Amino acid sequence: MKKIILFVVLLLSVAAYAQKFNGLAKTPPMGWNSWNRFRCDVNEKLIREAANAMVSSGMKEAGYKYIIIDDCWHGKRDSLGFIHADPKRFPSGIKALADYVHSLGLKFGIYTDAGWKTCAGKPGSRGYEYQDAISYAKWGVDYLKDDFCFADFLDAHGAYLTMRNALYSAGRPIVFSLCEGGDNKPWEWGKDVGHLWRTTSDIYAAFDTLEIHNGWNALGVLRILDLQKGIRKYSGPDHWNDPDMLEVGNGMSVNEDRAHFSMWCMLAAPLIAGNDLFNMNKETKEILTNKEAIAVDQDSLGISGFSYSSKDELEIWAKPLCDGDWAICFLNRGSEEIQVNFSWKEHTIIDSLSNREMNFMNSQYIIRDLWQHKELGSTEKNFVAAIPSHDVVLLKLSQKN
Ligand code: GLA
Repeated sequence: MKKIILFVVLLLSVAAYAQKFNGLAKTPPMGWNSWNRFRCDVNEKLIREAANAMVSSGMKEAGYKYIIIDDCWHGKRDSLGFIHADPKRFPSGIKALADYVHSLGLKFGIYTDAGWKTCAGKPGSRGYEYQDAISYAKWGVDYLKDDFCFADFLDAHGAYLTMRNALYSAGRPIVFSLCEGGDNKPWEWGKDVGHLWRTTSDIYAAFDTLEIHNGWNALGVLRILDLQKGIRKYSGPDHWNDPDMLEVGNGMSVNEDRAHFSMWCMLAAPLIAGNDLFNMNKETKEILTNKEAIAVDQDSLGISGFSYSSKDELEIWAKPLCDGDWAICFLNRGSEEIQVNFSWKEHTIIDSLSNREMNFMNSQYIIRDLWQHKELGSTEKNFVAAIPSHDVVLLKLSQKN
């Protein structure tokens, strides 16, 4: 009896002190995930090759570190309830794969679901959270994406708290990525639960369209972008809004890929590539490894950008950066080229959230083009540019001394 009481007290104290592992995602997580390109067609060879390509392509050097297997790695639960990988697709087991990924200086991520099944119908973690967390910790998992399919009647906040506490009690620091899809407004409660949370339904490789499926929608880049308005205040270091993984290299035009990547950087979004890393063309590689754009995303202040103005098809976004700098992005949403002639001096850009302001009458800024990688003068003169359809000009403004 005494032993049982002691056990219950121990369990309660773990629950009482459980928390998320703080400090694991001070800047938005960067990595690669199998889903957008490979769907359920995953196996250990593919994941090893992706990890190799992450290094050889320069992605690791540019800052990407997580290699994440999404849905469909699962086999069955054993008689004690422990989950195992599909023995045909992952004959060496997940631990060996994680060890391999670690040996390349990368980190390893995996996928589960808070409901009874994953979205692809594999075993979910509902009722097995503590057991699954122990398995993930034993395997050397560093990042867990936790979906919300087959979760009818579950309270999303409560369900994710259970997995958060399970991860904490298993003892291995694991980035916790909530993939609820936005219906339950995870930005309102996610900060103490996880390090990032999805804000919308799934992305797909299209710029401005919507695909309606039975029970869920797939959103193009602009559809997702528009759904981020109003929620930037919830995002910041260690607790990020996640507008979903990247579709760069998955079929959009180079202009659209560049615009997509730039806007994700302006949002301070997690940068999780979703393309075929070992068959990347030059343009895709250049976009994904643009260190100047990535520096906007990874800025240590972690302030998500905002739409400063929107007229016809031209939208201007602003993002405060550290050291008094700003990123400015001119986004052409339309199907025709736009000629921009922007008189800085007629504008004062104010961000009440971060209490920052750019008044171009009082201060001058040096302008750097982050795609052309060159300086373009200062804000004393009008900014003149032709922006192709579905493309951007991404600038960094630094105050003149
Ligand atoms: C959901 C998620 C996707 C992916 C699939 C896997 O749709 O939003 O990112 O993980 O499930 O089935």
